[in-house]
Amino acid sequence: MRILGIETSCDETAAAVVDNGRHLLSNVVSSSLLLHEKTGGIMPEVAAREQLEFIIPVIDKAMKEAGVTGEDLEAVAVTQGPGLIGSLLVGVEAGKTLSYVWKKPLIPVNHLLGHLYVNFLETDSSFSPPQFPLLFLAVSGGHTQIVHFRDHSDLVLLGETRDDAAGEAFDKVARLLNLGYPGGPVIEKAAVAGEPKAYNLPRPLLDADNLDFSFSGLKTAVLYLTKKENFNFSDKEKSNLAASFQTAVVETLVGKTVRALQQTGVKTLVAGGGVLANNFLRVRLKAAVEKMGVTIYFPPAGLSTDNAAGIATAAFYRNKSEDLFSVFARANFKLTEGNGSN
Ligand code: KG4
Ligand code: ZN
Repeated sequence: MRILGIETSCDETAAAVVDNGRHLLSNVVSSSLLLHEKTGGIMPEVAAREQLEFIIPVIDKAMKEAGVTGEDLEAVAVTQGPGLIGSLLVGVEAGKTLSYVWKKPLIPVNHLLGHLYVNFLETDSSFSPPQFPLLFLAVSGGHTQIVHFRDHSDLVLLGETRDDAAGEAFDKVARLLNLGYPGGPVIEKAAVAGEPKAYNLPRPLLDADNLDFSFSGLKTAVLYLTKKENFNFSDKEKSNLAASFQTAVVETLVGKTVRALQQTGVKTLVAGGGVLANNFLRVRLKAAVEKMGVTIYFPPAGLSTDNAAGIATAAFYRNKSEDLFSVFARANFKLTEGNGSN
């Protein structure tokens, strides 16, 4: 069963074909990241225009690389939200049109489910997919959540950020340090040569008896430090600050995840979202949860940040086509308690 996935929620234009929710036949991602580097953040209008330019060539390439035509497909899956409305619109309209022309069902997918389901893609012949019940740690530029999945569509939100998402904090701190955009990769790089204990930064809510996160205070702490130094840091100081900041974020994410695993007794952890590209986070998280006898899944290489492979995979497991015209009306929603596809 082959599904074409389309993802355009932010600055990536992505299309992928997945067979039986396991085999990735093609994966094409075009990013307008370089354009946003200049402004140090995403300009929604620019992102939407780039989506328009790339959507057809990207879908075309994904279909060709998979060696399929519309006739070979079982369904078309598209990210319906959450995301930037102008960007989402481009993918949703493309998905609706293809679904209409090819006479194949259209399956709307929550963006965050894409970050979960890339972990169901077979990476080698010994691969076995995540087993339920599982906890999903979603860490991206827009979200930081811990969700308890008892089954594919039986889920409860256990905790989430009360302000900034973790990826957003990386992006804002990188801007303060003049390191560029997106912040995650540049902070990770700068942190390699840094001393994580050089600056004493807060771990907001880490000791609070809940599973929520808060990253805006951490960002403000870095802002005060940079103001104190008049935004004038040496490369060594930047590295130290990057390492101290990265460690504070990672320790908070790991601490809350361990708490959630202890509270629920769940033995499978699935992690996803752009921040999981961070190797320091992967190493710390793996070490902490494996000590508890928990099996952990990370996104396959290159599939932490936004892609359509997870969207096509999610659609396979949560196959629920909908009336074309109801899809866009509900484009903005959160992955929260209840049925995750609503
Ligand atoms: O999942 P994603 O591609 O888009 C959203 O759904 O938001 O995540 C993008 C976020 C950005 O904030 C980016 O800075 C962060 O993921 N990110 C990283 C790394 N690579 C990307 N954060 C930390 N370390 C990285 N290596
Ligand atoms: Zn994402």
